[in-house]
Amino acid sequence: MSTPHTSLDTPLSVAPFPSRRLNRWVELAWHAAGSVDVRTKILGMVLALTTVLGLAVTLQVRAVMTSVFAEELESRGVSVASDLASRSTDPILLNDTYALHELLRETVINHPDALYAFVTDDHGQVLAHTFGEAGFPAGLLDIKMLAAAEANVHGDIRHWVYASNQGTVHEMIAPIMGGGAGVVRLGLTERRLQTIVNTVTGQMILTTLLVALAGIVAAMILTWLLTRPILDLVATTKEVGRGNLQARAPHWADDEIGTLADAFNQMVTDLDSSQRAVVEKEKARDLLLKKLITAQEEERKRIARELHDGVGQMLTSLMVGMRTMQRNDDPATAQARTEELCVTAGETLEQVRVLSRELRPSILDDLGLSAALERYVAEFARVHADVTVDLHCDLPGRLPSTVETALYRIVQEAMTNAARHGKATSVGVLVSRRNGTVQTIVEDNGAGFDVAAVRRRQSSVGIFGMSERAELLGGKLDIESGTEGTTVYAEVPL
Ligand SMILES: Nc1ncnc2c1ncn2[C@@H]1O[C@H](COP(=O)(O)OP(=O)(O)OP(=O)(O)O)[C@@H](O)[C@H]1O
Ligand SMILES: [Mg+2]
Repeated sequence: MSTPHTSLDTPLSVAPFPSRRLNRWVELAWHAAGSVDVRTKILGMVLALTTVLGLAVTLQVRAVMTSVFAEELESRGVSVASDLASRSTDPILLNDTYALHELLRETVINHPDALYAFVTDDHGQVLAHTFGEAGFPAGLLDIKMLAAAEANVHGDIRHWVYASNQGTVHEMIAPIMGGGAGVVRLGLTERRLQTIVNTVTGQMILTTLLVALAGIVAAMILTWLLTRPILDLVATTKEVGRGNLQARAPHWADDEIGTLADAFNQMVTDLDSSQRAVVEKEKARDLLLKKLITAQEEERKRIARELHDGVGQMLTSLMVGMRTMQRNDDPATAQARTEELCVTAGETLEQVRVLSRELRPSILDDLGLSAALERYVAEFARVHADVTVDLHCDLPGRLPSTVETALYRIVQEAMTNAARHGKATSVGVLVSRRNGTVQTIVEDNGAGFDVAAVRRRQSSVGIFGMSERAELLGGKLDIESGTEGTTVYAEVPL
């Protein structure tokens, strides 16, 4: 048993909305227009515009001329035919066929558009015609054809149009003496007027072609002028993309494209200088690293020397002293010797302490930056007796240990530089917490120096190290220096 066939058995397919199809066409056209270059677009536009304009004007002029000429031909035909009818009256009444013939012949010769003329009597018999030896064309007297001529009537003159082997013919039919003596029929051809219309059309098409040609040349020059700077800009962009930061786009004119080229050049200049800065910074960092490694080695050598020459010597003399004491039985000498050895041991201990402090001040870990700086300043004042140091440390609580170490080393370096290079007699140190940052200022009244020149030299490990320490913690370090002294200003965020 077969199941009834329902409309649901066939899958339903929905035709796309016309608007969606239109969108697709617009998309395709847009894509096609977008994928050709600017030059082709402009040339295409000029060509299409001139062609459409030229053709439209030509067709319009042709249509107007044709209709004006046809009207003119008709009105001229009407007047010639009516004149012919009135002048035919006498020869017909006098039965003068020769005069009638001459009248028709003259009229046809004098009228440039006249193709033929003939006269029929009131029974339709041809009395005279201008067809000459070719003979009278039989079809012309066809009654059915004449019936169509009723449509166009100018007064008592009828007008009809028919196609012949000589082209379109306008025939005027004028009654003689109200039709009582017959009719005169005058045939006019459109050929001459059609030739004029064709000549004008040809000239207009030629003009259109010339204008289109001139338009193409003008458009080519215009697109060259327009696209040249853009192509140059594209070439420069590619060159810059390849890594040549010396490439610059030429400034062709003071228009929008010129402004764009200037902006682009400025951008490349900025890029170039920032890249140079990065390279220089990298170089300086490399140098610093090398110097740091060398400095570390030097420091190790110095400590090794110190241990060997200082602590080692003292421990040796302690050992020798103790051996001597071992062999000596005299208590008085032993007493004096023990005291000597105690002094030597004390000196050794002090040397070890100094060494360990230099390596890493344990007070920094134990008591914090303020205490460590106080200790350092006291020691600094002891070593540099001619320098007065003024320390203000306004730090409630402890700071992160990385920040404490960095600031301690910065103050240490700045103070050493002030005494060593600036020959300062007074140094001021201020450390304070403000708006989530720690600010450190070390000020001296020394000789000052050319900061920019020293920074450019890139061999100043001390100054570069101070900056690096601040920058590694996200802060910054500025140095101002003049004849009245130097100020090192460091700021590190917490
Ligand atoms: N406070 C200062 N007063 C005068 N000149 C200074 C001062 N600080 C630095 N300078 C000048 O800057 C130069 C570089 O200083 P920097 O601390 O970087 O190196 P250094 O002290 O010569 O060597 P290092 O610190 O590595 O032992 C010094 O040689 C000095 O000419
Ligand atoms: Mg230094």
